[in-house]
Amino acid sequence: FEKKDLLGKRIMITAGPTYEKIDPVRFIGNYSSGKMGFALAEECARRGAEVTIVAGPVSCNISKLKSQVSIISVESCQDMYDAATELFPDTDAAILCAAVADFRPAEVAEQKIKRVGQTMDIHLVPNPDIAASLGQMKKEKQVLVGFALETNDEEQNAQHKLEKKNLDFIVLNSLRNEGTCFRSDENQISIISRDGQTDYDKKPKREVAADIIDELVRNINRQ
Ligand code: PMT
Repeated sequence: FEKKDLLGKRIMITAGPTYEKIDPVRFIGNYSSGKMGFALAEECARRGAEVTIVAGPVSCNISKLKSQVSIISVESCQDMYDAATELFPDTDAAILCAAVADFRPAEVAEQKIKRVGQTMDIHLVPNPDIAASLGQMKKEKQVLVGFALETNDEEQNAQHKLEKKNLDFIVLNSLRNEGTCFRSDENQISIISRDGQTDYDKKPKREVAADIIDELVRNINRQ
């Protein structure tokens, strides 16, 4: 028995890391593989949604999903911002699972930077906050879901992001839980909304995705 409770719904998901260029051969990035975002995309497609995934440079295998979801490949936060803000008005819900760089180098060197001197400084400037921008654009019937990746004061930080970015709920995962978050096949989450918090066991990302989508469907049906 397949639940088709997202039939006719359009969902956008951001996934993976962003790369912020330093010079033609180097970048600032992070360890996100894209596994969590693609598990969410697969679950949404399985339940009948029309899914667009805006993916940074992911390292997970995305070929089997190519026939089920539209994939827009981007590299930097700015690219992801441009794609996400263009797509969002036509969606019923967006899930922001990407690990986006909050800062980028102020200037990208045209040539490979040479090793001169004993130290080197890279001046960073802030990137746009995709989640907060979509939170401002959000219309009454749209549902916006964020993630919070924390290392300390997890619940307090997640609660702050929920409010600051105008999200309907936030999925908290902590790097303190071994074998979860970045690159792992499993994750352990809490879902925090204005109504309270639900804690889930550590489980495969596919099952974590199903828990998140159950909560998404409850939110969509409530709108
Ligand atoms: O890809 P995997 O290897 O499977 O790992 C999954 C994951 C750990 C990356 C994922 O589960 C996760 O936690 N994603 C969010 C990571 C993150 O950057 O969290 P954050 O707490 O810094 O950001 C808060 C929210 O704002 C997130 O929804 C993020 O997508 C969004 N954000 C952040 C900064 C920014 N400039 N724009 C954003 O939209």
